[in-house]
Amino acid sequence: MQAHHAIQRILPLRLRHGVRELAYSVFVDQLGWRPTSRASMEIVDDDYRRGRWDYLNNLEEMSRYAVIAGYCKHRTNVLSVLDLGCGSGILRRWLRPPESIDYIGVDLSNVAIDRAGREWTDGSTRFIAADAATYVPDRKFDVVIFNEVLYYFEQPSKILEHFAGFLENNGHFVVSLWDAPESRRAWRQSRGSVRVVDAVQTRHSSGVSWQICLCRPRL
Ligand SMILES: C[S@@+](CC[C@H](N)C(=O)[O-])C[C@H]1O[C@@H](n2cnc3c(N)ncnc32)[C@H](O)[C@@H]1O
Repeated sequence: MQAHHAIQRILPLRLRHGVRELAYSVFVDQLGWRPTSRASMEIVDDDYRRGRWDYLNNLEEMSRYAVIAGYCKHRTNVLSVLDLGCGSGILRRWLRPPESIDYIGVDLSNVAIDRAGREWTDGSTRFIAADAATYVPDRKFDVVIFNEVLYYFEQPSKILEHFAGFLENNGHFVVSLWDAPESRRAWRQSRGSVRVVDAVQTRHSSGVSWQICLCRPRL
């Protein structure tokens, strides 16, 4: 096992994020642009196997899924959705009626994708294990969703610009970011690539909060 993987396995999740942020802020200028992710398949698979993402099913997370689904519902012409970093497919349950929305969920974790695939076997849903940083869709979408994933990319703006090419005319991005330093970095780096059409902030009584934006690519 490589040393940095060993360290990542030992450190608690939040501390890992902090160490990773520090390393990237020091070395970001030397990284240049590569369509790369800060996560690895081994690490996220391990996270899912150990249940580290189980909290995503908790009630306190509900508001952001509800707002994202609301953005898709409000725009009545939404027939196709690409959910990047979809995890085990929690958001899919919120998109209604499911059979009228062609949905593709992409995640780096095979474990998460296997779980999602077991729950969803209908013809309008596909789950794909892939790195969103290099994933090339075979179609365009009405909405491309970045639900708590944008901060995993070294240069989120480049990812947004890449997926702008896979939006239908008048298609939208939906971006959810929790209130944390890594999110602020990702948003600072991305906001030049998008025009915000609408934004909602949600805050749970436990203190955790999110900003969810409906955006158009800035071409
Ligand atoms: C905080 S979780 C959010 C999961 C899901 N969007 C949700 O809210 O239920 C972040 C997810 O991003 C995935 N992820 C991280 N880097 C990724 C990448 N480069 N490509 C695809 N998925 C990635 C992780 O495996 C994880 O499932």
